[in-house]
Amino acid sequence: MTPANRSDLPARLREALQRAGFTYDAVAELLGPLGHAALGRNETTPGLRATRGGTPLETLVRLFLLQAPVAVAAAERALPGMVDRLAVEGFLEQGVGEVAARLDVRPYATGDLDLWVVSDLTPGLDGRPVRVGTDHVLGISSASTSLAQLTLREPVGRALDLGTGCGVQALHLAAHSRRVVATDVNQRALRITGFNAALNEVADRVEVRDGSFFEPVRDELFDLIATNPPFVISPATGERLVYRDSGLPGDRVVEDIVRAAPRHLADGGWCQVLANWVIARGRDWDDRLASWISEDCDAFVVQREVLDPAAYVELWLKDAGLHGGPDYAERYDTWLSWFDDQGVEGIGFGWINLHRRGSDAAGAPARDLLEWPYDVEQPIAPAIRDWAAAREVEVGPDSRLLVRPDVQQETLGAPGAEDPETVVLRQQVGCAGPAGSTPSRRAWSAPATAS
Ligand SMILES: C[S@@+](CC[C@H](N)C(=O)[O-])C[C@H]1O[C@@H](n2cnc3c(N)ncnc32)[C@H](O)[C@@H]1O
Repeated sequence: MTPANRSDLPARLREALQRAGFTYDAVAELLGPLGHAALGRNETTPGLRATRGGTPLETLVRLFLLQAPVAVAAAERALPGMVDRLAVEGFLEQGVGEVAARLDVRPYATGDLDLWVVSDLTPGLDGRPVRVGTDHVLGISSASTSLAQLTLREPVGRALDLGTGCGVQALHLAAHSRRVVATDVNQRALRITGFNAALNEVADRVEVRDGSFFEPVRDELFDLIATNPPFVISPATGERLVYRDSGLPGDRVVEDIVRAAPRHLADGGWCQVLANWVIARGRDWDDRLASWISEDCDAFVVQREVLDPAAYVELWLKDAGLHGGPDYAERYDTWLSWFDDQGVEGIGFGWINLHRRGSDAAGAPARDLLEWPYDVEQPIAPAIRDWAAAREVEVGPDSRLLVRPDVQQETLGAPGAEDPETVVLRQQVGCAGPAGSTPSRRAWSAPATAS
């Protein structure tokens, strides 16, 4: 791929995608509820049945989302004058009379943004074996959307996307930051992020930098850092998939980020991390995480889910397409023995929010480490903002506490009993959303990389 700043391809592709009406909502409508839901499960047959008409929109959906070869003439109608060029640049592969996608190009929408995101092809469609290269550039995963919904969206000056991948967080940040720095060690990821920034007309605000974690921003401060780092906790045997493996032992990658981030935050700045962490035998998870956090920051950490070591190993071996392979049992056993040796009792999945205190901050820094396995209202960012605002309210002897308007009372007890055994007051929004609340980010997410 030619670097985006030396190419007219992003602008030309943008124009073609626009002309074809290749937006998230139009694609969802074209696929219909059946095809749409099936694609969310990595199944293409209902989608193929819904896109047989040969319009440019149908061709783009078949080519890039459903990974079906399309006739050259149809590709030419959808991408006028660009097919040869897209083949040279690695987006398409030309066969006899037809072309197939080599990269994924898909619309992605949030409440107020309509974007296109290029990444490597989604592996494993229709149950095909998952085989990805060590430098695979992940598309928009459920972890990406979790972080996007956690990230505070107030206007800021400087933002950092650490481990940018296809650049999805950088694109979000560019909508409310004057300047975004996006870092990665994967050269392909940096090229794709640069392309995506140009494709979405934010290249003037997004700067991509090569280097490991904070190394490319050594002496710089940011108002907002958003990161979905390569947090998979593994014995590091076998090949390293750079999109998920840091190469550091245990959960050191998360610890290092939490320890280093405060030095890169301006006063009042935030670092928001999506993470996995070790729950060590004989130690409370929250004590362990709290010990990483600088006195310069307030912290709100939420453990959303805990997996036992076996379930964790299965999740990530399946993600790498190794389930059912000849050495599956051996890899499983090695990983599990390593967890045992390391005293790993479980693995926590969740969010770490660090808020840098001002130089004049008084009192002890806040440490709220919470287990919240229940539904949340998405996007969850406003609840994080409310948490910080609540820290600033002074409560004195004359203060009067009010019940939030969304609180509901639930009572539990034996049928016919005069009094309930339990009374629960349950907040309905924020960290307590009703079951099944609808996500505001719209994407067909790759399933296994959740958090
Ligand atoms: C889980 S992906 C996240 C991608 C994207 N930010 C998202 O939210 O979907 C982690 C990214 O971190 C990158 N990465 C791996 N090791 C890194 C390192 N040492 N320094 C910076 N980035 C790294 C990977 O190449 C990958 O793009």
